[in-house]
Amino acid sequence: MKIVLIGHMGSGKSSVGIKLAAALKIPFKDLDSEIEKVEKTSISNIFSEKGEIYFRKVEGKVLKKLLSATSSFVLATGGGTPCYGDSMTYIAGLEDVVSVYIKVQLGTLTSRLFSEKENRPLLAHLKTEDELNDFIRKHLFERAYYYNQSKEIVAVDAENINETVEKIILKLF
Ligand code: S3P
Repeated sequence: MKIVLIGHMGSGKSSVGIKLAAALKIPFKDLDSEIEKVEKTSISNIFSEKGEIYFRKVEGKVLKKLLSATSSFVLATGGGTPCYGDSMTYIAGLEDVVSVYIKVQLGTLTSRLFSEKENRPLLAHLKTEDELNDFIRKHLFERAYYYNQSKEIVAVDAENINETVEKIILKLF
């Protein structure tokens, strides 16, 4: 089985994914890191040198390549992965894939992302926490349509990583 974690930037897909994979004794993969390996440069550099459209094309291709493998793993996608091209339809159509939307509240996403926004090409230009909050609210409004097509939705608020992993395992088995 492949478990594909979906959710906004700052929802904890990677940190939850690492622990979930360890608990299930299967490998963990991170789509952004796989893209960086293929492109031999950082996500920020891809955005600044080649632009977002190029990034989205590579993202879709690397996703499909990873999901075509027969092995089991946990994959943390990027926050935009399911929202471009036919990626969400593709993920939802695979029988051996369980997609899990980690749904985190706007306020929590805002405070988490405010301290790390410099490393994120889509957020670096936002100056204040209010601007960031506004940006994430609009982003969630547009993206929820795709995120909500996940097979499972795990709403997370004050839970820590271990509790989130437990919640996901309970949904899966
Ligand atoms: C993006 C999220 C990022 C990364 C890129 C674009 C997005 O991944 O793929 O900066 O469009 O939301 P994380 O969600 O892992 O930060």
